[in-house]
Amino acid sequence: MRYSEEPVVRMRALRSVSLGVPDPQASRDFYHEVWGLSTVEADAGRFWLRATGDEHHVLRLVTAEQNRLDQISFAVETPRAIDEAARRLEQIGIPILRPPGRLEDAAGGYGMTLVDPEGRAIQLSADTHAVPQQEPAGRRAIPRKVAHVVLNTTDIDLMADFYVEVLGMRISDWSEHQMTFLRCNADHHVIALNQAPWPSVNHVAYEMHSVDHFMRGLGSLKHHGIEPQWGPGRHGPGDNTFSYFTDPAGLVCEYTSEVAQVDEDSWLCRTWRRVPELSDQWGTAGPPTTGVRTAMAGLADLGHRDEVVTGIDDYFIGSE
Ligand SMILES: [Fe+2]
Repeated sequence: MRYSEEPVVRMRALRSVSLGVPDPQASRDFYHEVWGLSTVEADAGRFWLRATGDEHHVLRLVTAEQNRLDQISFAVETPRAIDEAARRLEQIGIPILRPPGRLEDAAGGYGMTLVDPEGRAIQLSADTHAVPQQEPAGRRAIPRKVAHVVLNTTDIDLMADFYVEVLGMRISDWSEHQMTFLRCNADHHVIALNQAPWPSVNHVAYEMHSVDHFMRGLGSLKHHGIEPQWGPGRHGPGDNTFSYFTDPAGLVCEYTSEVAQVDEDSWLCRTWRRVPELSDQWGTAGPPTTGVRTAMAGLADLGHRDEVVTGIDDYFIGSE
């Protein structure tokens, strides 16, 4: 036990990711015109893009000097649960970037933002604006939701403890001592941590309705002259299909489908060996390109650690 005996909050789902990039307009054009998302709102260089699921948006793009993870947003059951989480976080010295209150963002709702030990902003929200679910028109390839975010971390054990003990996530599997896959609902993982030389966002994955839609997505990108930089294939841990691309900012985005569904009563966490036949069960993907490996390593991202004070002296990794 490093942070808390009882989780501070129980998160229901991964809602959205906010990425900071030097040219949000160029990224917006890619995700809107090529990737299959649609713009729900734009305001002073910021863009909110939705998928076909019931979240107001799954991707927000904001301006930043260099690529960074601006925020990850999770759904919590009620505003009351958010108030309770804020109280508990304060008790155990976890820094809060924005205290509970009405959210001014396009999705509305009630929420708060805390900061993880590598400075990432984690937003908890409830009561966000409802939007109609839009199942793909015909058989067009449009992502349904953001499936998972993979985070590069310099201390995988400490970060896993934080996400489990504070945010109530469960570890579904390990990939040796290199990656760990964390869930907050039946989806095998919504966050994965990857041991790396510096903290950064490794990639963001978008879930397609079916393997058929996944392949149609690949076809649609091919039509735009864009080839996968790793994939298509099917991972061992999570059993999900994968195909990785880079966006105009050089960040990695993934189409995925059919992620394993976890039964809390019977699931047993395993450690997978990192061998080609388990990285890609289909045997179709081949190795990732050098370019996508570099893009997955990304740029060192200290997150929001300068914006908060914490009650714990050595709270931030590398700060002691
Ligand atoms: Fe992935």
